[in-house]
Amino acid sequence: MDQNALKKLVAEAALEYVEAGTVIGVGTGSTANMFIDALARIKGKIDGTVASSVASAERLKSHGIPVLDLNAAGELSVYVDGADESTKHLHLIKGGGGALTREKIVAGAARKFVCIADASKLVDVLGAFPLPIEVIPMARSFVARELVKLGGTPVLRENFTTDNGNIILDIHNLKIMDPVKLEAELNNIPGIVTVGIFAIRPADVLLLGTKDGVKTLT
Ligand code: A5P
Repeated sequence: MDQNALKKLVAEAALEYVEAGTVIGVGTGSTANMFIDALARIKGKIDGTVASSVASAERLKSHGIPVLDLNAAGELSVYVDGADESTKHLHLIKGGGGALTREKIVAGAARKFVCIADASKLVDVLGAFPLPIEVIPMARSFVARELVKLGGTPVLRENFTTDNGNIILDIHNLKIMDPVKLEAELNNIPGIVTVGIFAIRPADVLLLGTKDGVKTLT
């Protein structure tokens, strides 16, 4: 099975976590897109969705799936989204698509976070995938210097502005041995809006697409 078939497999498997009569959070990226397409088949079952990006909101609406403002939605039953890397402890790197801030907010507002990913995303140590950080534009150089002090190599994502009007620095050359600690440390640097480590609030369930089928890690 190719990578896309594995993504589709886990996107379909995530439908099981959709509770009738609730509002659910929906993530961003190619795997989340496949979840949105699968969700269209059972759209009558839910009260609506909250999207973690403008792109996902557009895709949901194109299927006739209601998209709500998070402020009007209250607590979400579940958040379904992909990841760029995951450990077996369900600590994640996210933000390859640049939507990390809204992803972290919507994940935080959900009772359960179901991560969907193909097997290539499972790693022993986070950091081979450059860690995305959303930064207020005026803080770019200061934050970059702080990141160098921590041993990383920050690279500005060219020609990219987030949905919130900010920039992304991708940090190369990090071996993230303690994701909870590094997430907290980076959160404390002024000018950083969001860190692409999801470890303080990890996923609750990882549906991993493998050649032997869907593996469920909790
Ligand atoms: C978006 O900002 C990311 O966090 C995505 O969840 C991540 O990049 C996974 O994307 P794919 O499903 O396209 O691999």
